[in-house]
Amino acid sequence: MHNGTTLTQFIIEEQRQIGASGDFSSLLNDIVTACKVISNAVHKGALIGIQGSAGSENVQGETQKKLDVITNEIFIKSNEWAGHLAAMGSEEMDDIYSIPRQYPKGKYLLVFDPLDGSSNIDVNISVGTIFSILRSPKGMSQEPVTARDFLQPGTRQVCAGYAVYGPSTMLVLTSGHGVNGFTLDQNIGEFILTHPKMRIPEDSTEFAINASNERFWEAPVQRYVDECLKGVEGPRKKNFNMRWIASMVAEVHRILIRGGVFMYPKDTKDPGKAGKLRLMYEANPMSFIVEQAGGASSTGRERIMEMAPADLHQRVPVILGSKNEVNRIISYHAEPPKASEAAA
Ligand code: AHG
Ligand code: MN
Ligand code: MN
Repeated sequence: MHNGTTLTQFIIEEQRQIGASGDFSSLLNDIVTACKVISNAVHKGALIGIQGSAGSENVQGETQKKLDVITNEIFIKSNEWAGHLAAMGSEEMDDIYSIPRQYPKGKYLLVFDPLDGSSNIDVNISVGTIFSILRSPKGMSQEPVTARDFLQPGTRQVCAGYAVYGPSTMLVLTSGHGVNGFTLDQNIGEFILTHPKMRIPEDSTEFAINASNERFWEAPVQRYVDECLKGVEGPRKKNFNMRWIASMVAEVHRILIRGGVFMYPKDTKDPGKAGKLRLMYEANPMSFIVEQAGGASSTGRERIMEMAPADLHQRVPVILGSKNEVNRIISYHAEPPKASEAAA
């Protein structure tokens, strides 16, 4: 019987091909371990009393779930000691986390959303973890790292990935040479390559958006969704299907498997916020994965991966998925607004 390629084996083989140092493989290994520990906690659920609110708020003013706090801690503990990182940034921490003095410092920066879709945790629906690896501009020097060192465009990511804790736990990764998916074999505790070279179909008839925000959307998104809803009788001349899981990880995973579009667009709900999702640890890593799988990712007006970040916790509009659908939505944004809309 062939055992299948383990993630560890895959990482080492890829590292040999690109002639990288063992550092990167070793860092990925620690991230993978963190995801296994989180997977275990998520799957035990109420049995170990980790559901519900933590009674605190994060930097975005969102109520933290107990698991938001626990998974953040798991990520830090798994990744701080080995000497590969200079600092970490997380959705759950206002400031960056500098590597404590007792540990050696490395040349990479790690940003993560330890638990994505956390509103789903108490109702037993898929959640995930998203991460992105950047090079530290300070290199191996012992100079202190600042939040500004993290503010690099998504095109500079060395690697991005997510784990989805669903009916099975999967890890999906890119380091700029395509996208590969691995499934956790709980019995042996290893991720096995089950989805090599994942590709997003260029066309699709499925879209995902939180339609309760419809009245706050801009005209191009209103138009796109409206045309989809009109089905065979409308300008698209075909029927569309809709999904909304409220876990970006689960939506992106579905799109990688069977295509589709995911939108959390710019809206006027809260004029102080450019969108809901965070650039550094949600939009950028997912955009890297989606583009590497042949899809597209945009705010509607610019390629997400080319944005110059201004803040670690910056929010951006996100429109990603099947290339031809995303390009259509981009083209709607490029059209001049009608006189009636311009006046509004
Ligand atoms: P998080 O749990 O990390 O705060 O992220 C939740 C995000 C994203 O995963 C999801 O697509 C979106 O928020 C859901 O938002 P709504 O509740 O507004 O639908
Ligand atoms: Mn999230
Ligand atoms: Mn989160």
